[in-house]
Order: sequence, then structure tokens, then C-alpha cells
Amino acid sequence: MKEREPNDFYATHPSAIPPLLEVLDWRKPQKIWENSCGTGCLSKPLINAGHFVTSTDLIDRGFGTGGIDFLEPSWLDHEQWDAVIMNPPYKHAQEFVEKSLTLAPVVCAFLRLAFLESSGRKVFFDTTPLETVAVFRKRIPYSKEGKFDDFKSHPVAYAWFIWRRGCQSSPIIRWI
Ligand SMILES: C[S@@+](CC[C@H](N)C(=O)[O-])C[C@H]1O[C@@H](n2cnc3c(N)ncnc32)[C@H](O)[C@@H]1O
Repeated sequence: MKEREPNDFYATHPSAIPPLLEVLDWRKPQKIWENSCGTGCLSKPLINAGHFVTSTDLIDRGFGTGGIDFLEPSWLDHEQWDAVIMNPPYKHAQEFVEKSLTLAPVVCAFLRLAFLESSGRKVFFDTTPLETVAVFRKRIPYSKEGKFDDFKSHPVAYAWFIWRRGCQSSPIIRWI
């Protein structure tokens, strides 16, 4: 099996953001924390769309503020956020979502569709109901170094997983 990148660094193609914004249908700029920003592939289109984005990452990758472990307490935990938007390290995805929901009423995570599987996440999904799963009709490129052209085919299906604090209904599936 291939080794995963250190700290699970895979850049998401910025084209992942406009369909998310359509689903969210925000009417005014939002204060957003991207807590695992990498080189800013998600933050940049959010900023271009007029939102106020704070971008942090465990590692300094030349964008945003490095050296911030999202799973550890930080001064950013005391800010008021409208939303957290992220492509977190997959092995910590659940912890990232759980902490994000304590900080912001809306949490959007770009994750493999397979995140829906796993009996190990039953309690999590039961107690943390998803509002929407927005599934990409086409595969979104991802890259180790932001060189998206290197990837001719994209073997993994991704979706935006959207939680809204207090949501109690069954999740909606959207195709984007
Ligand atoms: C899958 S990459 C996503 C990068 C970027 N968000 C994107 O979509 O292009 C995951 C990122 O999470 C960062 N990361 C890993 N563990 C972290 C932690 N505990 N706190 C904050 N960031 C972390 C990695 O350094 C990496 O940049």
C-alpha cells in the first residue's frame, strides 16, 4: 500500500468551493475558519467570493498561519465564527468535525464519500446528524503539491459533508 503524505497533505482543487457556496446560499459575507488550510486552495476562492477567512495549519506551507494544531486549544477557539470549512487530515476527520461544531454553527468538511461507511462512526452519525451530503458528480482533482495537471484520473469520490448545529432531521443528498 502507498504511504500517505506526512500530516495527510493533499491539496484540493479550488473548483470544489463554488458548488459548496451554491448549496450554502449565503446572502452576506461570513466569518470562516479554515483550520487545515495547506497552501490555501480552499481559502483563496472563499476570500475571492468576499468572505472573511482565517487560515491556519499545523505546518507552515507558506499560506495562512502555520504551527496551529486545531485539536489543541488556541486563542482562535474564543472567536465567533459563522462557519468552519475544511479538508481535514482524514484520520482525524471526526475529531475535526466534533471540535468545529463547538466553535461554529455551520461545519463543512470535504471528505471521501466513504466517510459515510464504517460501523465505528455509528454513534457519531447518530449523535451528530448531518444536514446535507453534497456529492460531486465529477471527480475533483487533488494533488500532493498543487500540480493538479499531474493527475489524469481521480480514483476517489468526494463530497461536502455539511453539519448545522441543532439539525435533527435526516440528511439531504444533493448532487453538485
Ligand atoms: C488534506 S490536507 C488539506 C489541505 C487544504 N485544506 C486543501 O484542501 O488544499 C490536510 C491538511 O491538514 C493539516 N493538518 C494535519 N494535522 C493537523 C492538525 N492537527 N491541525 C491543523 N492542521 C493539520 C496538514 O498539514 C495538511 O495541510
